[in-house]
Amino acid sequence: MSDQVTRRTFLEIASGLTAGVVGSTRLSATPLAPFVHTERNRAIAIASANGLGAVQTAGELAEQGMDTLDAAIEGVKLRELDPTDMSVGYGGLPNEHGVVQLDASCMHGPSRRAGAVAAIEGIKTPSVVAKYVLKYTDHIMLVGVGATRFALSYGFQQEDLMTPASRERWLRWRANRGADDDWVNVDGDEEMVQRPTGTINCNVLNSNGDVSSVTTTSGLAWKIPGRAGDSPIIGAGQYTDNSVGAAGSTGRGEANIKVCGAFLTVEGMRRGLSPTDAALETLRRVLETTQPRLMNEEGRPTFGLNFYALNKNGEFGAASLYPSSFAVWDGTEASVQDTAYLFERR
Ligand code: GLY
Repeated sequence: MSDQVTRRTFLEIASGLTAGVVGSTRLSATPLAPFVHTERNRAIAIASANGLGAVQTAGELAEQGMDTLDAAIEGVKLRELDPTDMSVGYGGLPNEHGVVQLDASCMHGPSRRAGAVAAIEGIKTPSVVAKYVLKYTDHIMLVGVGATRFALSYGFQQEDLMTPASRERWLRWRANRGADDDWVNVDGDEEMVQRPTGTINCNVLNSNGDVSSVTTTSGLAWKIPGRAGDSPIIGAGQYTDNSVGAAGSTGRGEANIKVCGAFLTVEGMRRGLSPTDAALETLRRVLETTQPRLMNEEGRPTFGLNFYALNKNGEFGAASLYPSSFAVWDGTEASVQDTAYLFERR
């Protein structure tokens, strides 16, 4: 059951922002009803819009009895292994040196454990490596060469993650990045200077009321080598509390990290906010911490950011700065739905 906010709620938020009282609007909070397992309860999976296949796979596997974290990872692996998704895993856009560096994190609600990798190179499925950190170590996060060596020790294959298409995008960006450098500019193709921050986040609830979350990404295209975004940060890229629910994010990681957005969204649900309202409240906190250089002349952010949330009662929702969409498996079918949002796109 989606808990999409009403148009009135949206207008109240939007007018509050226009009046320069960002963050002062407080949505009503009713206590989160305790999760009650009934035969009606089916698995629920919610993901970013690129996760339609992921939520279907994760939801069906969870309903067949697979652990919620394993199911979520099976879902996002579809995107990690898909060479046409340039925001995740194999085929993800590289850093400024043409090296694909991947980030991922996960949390397993029932065991209260977490794992993450950042700037791992040459491994197609960083979500699985993050789970191995969770499962086989006393640590939470491994980075860079250490993360790659850790994966190799478990038999993961190190491969070239660039595809002909992602290499073409990178070469075009490099050629056109500056007028006075030594690279000859390439005509046309405006896309080459864009910097996508695509990612996949997937959260799964099963009929026992157990929750898990995973987020995986190739991060900001053309990033400075070594840059880690929000995706590998527990509490930013995703967060799970098995007594409340789970949340995750896609979009500009630097904006999310400063508010620990996934954690904040789960805490909002703990205080009784619906998943959508909790995600909207987190976005308003993001605006409070955004530097003027990232706002346009209308005082609106120049970047995109989305939050996806799921509580133990099976309610789900998503919110974004601008109109966007998300994928959900509601126990019956997978669909793409509209997010709640703060600003109309002009
Ligand atoms: N949210 C993905 C990133 O900023 O790396």
